[in-house]
Amino acid sequence: MTKPDSLFSISPVARALVSATQALPQLLRAFRTGEGVAWSAYGSDMIESQGDFNRPWLVNLFGAEFLPAIPDVHQRLLADPPARVVDVACGVGWAAIAIAKSYPKVSVDGFDPDESSIDEARRLAKESGVDDRVRFEVRDGEDVGKEGPYDLAVVVEAIHDVSRPVEILAAIREGLAPSGVLLVADERVADAFTAPGDDVERFMYAASVLVCLPGGLAEQPSAATGTVMRAGTFRDYATKAGFRDVEVLPFEPGFLRFYRLTP
Ligand SMILES: C[S@@+](CC[C@H](N)C(=O)[O-])C[C@H]1O[C@@H](n2cnc3c(N)ncnc32)[C@H](O)[C@@H]1O
Repeated sequence: MTKPDSLFSISPVARALVSATQALPQLLRAFRTGEGVAWSAYGSDMIESQGDFNRPWLVNLFGAEFLPAIPDVHQRLLADPPARVVDVACGVGWAAIAIAKSYPKVSVDGFDPDESSIDEARRLAKESGVDDRVRFEVRDGEDVGKEGPYDLAVVVEAIHDVSRPVEILAAIREGLAPSGVLLVADERVADAFTAPGDDVERFMYAASVLVCLPGGLAEQPSAATGTVMRAGTFRDYATKAGFRDVEVLPFEPGFLRFYRLTP
């Protein structure tokens, strides 16, 4: 198996950091008022660098190695009638595109409320030759329930960003077919904080203060999760959303941990 770390790109972090500095006046105001800073306020540098951050493993490993290693999901994606997949909080859409490229029968919906991300996702789907089976829409993740049934739902590095994680997870559960599966990739932080924190914890707290926590606070009410979403917090959200089981899968691309949720 290809070593995930060799396909994990760290350079987009520099671009993301520069885009965070552009939002500093809004961040300062947000920390005084508690109002938050919307993801769109960080501009195209943040949106594109986020896409570049996960693109290497999504394009090279997700559909080629990770999904084939989950037998029931792999079989369903190959079978008839063609499977329906949804990428929630899709950003610029690399997860949706990767799934469509690896599984030629499936159709994929990608939802994200950020307009520029969806514009870019549509462009990338066309460039990748999958725009006939991948549909990107400016939609909130809470709309997923109305659009099912889906055989597979994925959420990559976004549950910690959304204001209402339990509501989004519950909507996804509602949108899943009876044998449907939700895969969530989110930060692989420690199970508990131990001072002074390792390098990953420090990086994630920096990202949280500059981007993810103010982003999540931009809409109210908010769970105010922030980047450091520990496994226990995620399990709690999943249980409140009605999922029966949360399993940690043995894929660890970059800083991420994979969860499989059973409705
Ligand atoms: C860190 S980005 C991850 C994007 C993409 N999944 C990736 O891995 O590159 C978080 C995304 O969550 C989206 N988001 C925030 N609130 C959302 C909501 N209520 N419903 C759906 N997506 C949301 C943002 O617009 C942003 O694109």
